[in-house]
Amino acid sequence: MKNLSPKAWIIVGVVALFIIVGGTVSVANKTSSDSFCIRCHAYEKVSWDHGDHPDVGCIACHTKGMMTDKVKGIQKVYLTSTGQVNPHNDLLPSYKEAITENCIGCHLSREQRSERPIFSARHDEYMKYQATCMGCHDPGHVKSMQNQRFAASRR
Ligand code: HEC
Ligand code: HEC
Ligand code: HEC
Ligand code: HEC
Repeated sequence: MKNLSPKAWIIVGVVALFIIVGGTVSVANKTSSDSFCIRCHAYEKVSWDHGDHPDVGCIACHTKGMMTDKVKGIQKVYLTSTGQVNPHNDLLPSYKEAITENCIGCHLSREQRSERPIFSARHDEYMKYQATCMGCHDPGHVKSMQNQRFAASRR
């Protein structure tokens, strides 16, 4: 490779760049898929299958933005692979407010508001008394199934 012309180096550089960018995009897509999530969150998979939203992907409710997701994701792979957290048994932190934003994005979107004015008006009223949708609904997961996690044998 030593005696390549400058032009050839540029071509090598461009090809390398394509491989790096392409690889990053495909890793980002793979790590956003439901099949990736359920490797570590089996109880959430079952409780989600039986909930109100089996057709809505994990990320639609659980995203906090692409960048935050990926940074948190790397931390989680680290915590899991070093045995510091066992996602199958341990109590996990949850961020209800961020999830509520996503609920609103689908259920109280501008289109929904014009299609379902009565539902929307009632829900504006409800939200004066509850900080999150989860104050009244159990949407993503059937709680009793999700809680089986704690009954499972420890590692
Ligand atoms: C390598 C294993 C692993 C994978 C894969 C994984 N998680 Fe997690 N997850 C964890 C661990 C460990 C925690 C606890 C993190 C902590 O204690 O800070 C967690 C916490 C969570 C939480 C609760 C805390 C929070 O950040 O809101 C949610 C929700 C969650 N994961 C959703 C997902 C979704 C959606 C995916 C797929 C895009 C996914 N997880 C993929 C291991 C994983
Ligand atoms: C990606 C869009 C999307 C997101 C995000 C979402 N939903 Fe849904 N939700 C739906 C769809 C689609 C249905 C199924 C409607 C149907 O089949 O009639 C549904 C159904 C429901 C139902 C049951 C309605 C019924 O008729 O029984 C409730 C309650 C609900 N969602 C609340 C929530 C809450 C709370 C959140 C946030 C944690 C949320 N949804 C997030 C799209 C979404
Ligand atoms: C104070 C309790 C309360 C809160 C908070 C609440 N809801 Fe509801 N929700 C209800 C009740 C009661 C119904 C059934 C009667 C109705 O439609 O108002 C309902 C019905 C629904 C339905 C089903 C409507 C249908 O007929 O298909 C969806 C979807 C829904 N809520 C989504 C949400 C979302 C998203 C949030 C958060 C922005 C939320 N709810 C917050 C009490 C609540
Ligand atoms: C309709 C929205 C929705 C979908 C779709 C959804 N979840 Fe959730 N998820 C929730 C809500 C709401 C909570 C509970 C937040 C709370 O009350 O603290 C939750 C909690 C969690 C938690 C934290 C567990 C804990 O102890 O609170 C994990 C992990 C999780 N979900 C993973 C997943 C995975 C993996 C998928 C896809 C297989 C998924 N979720 C699909 C709404 C959703």
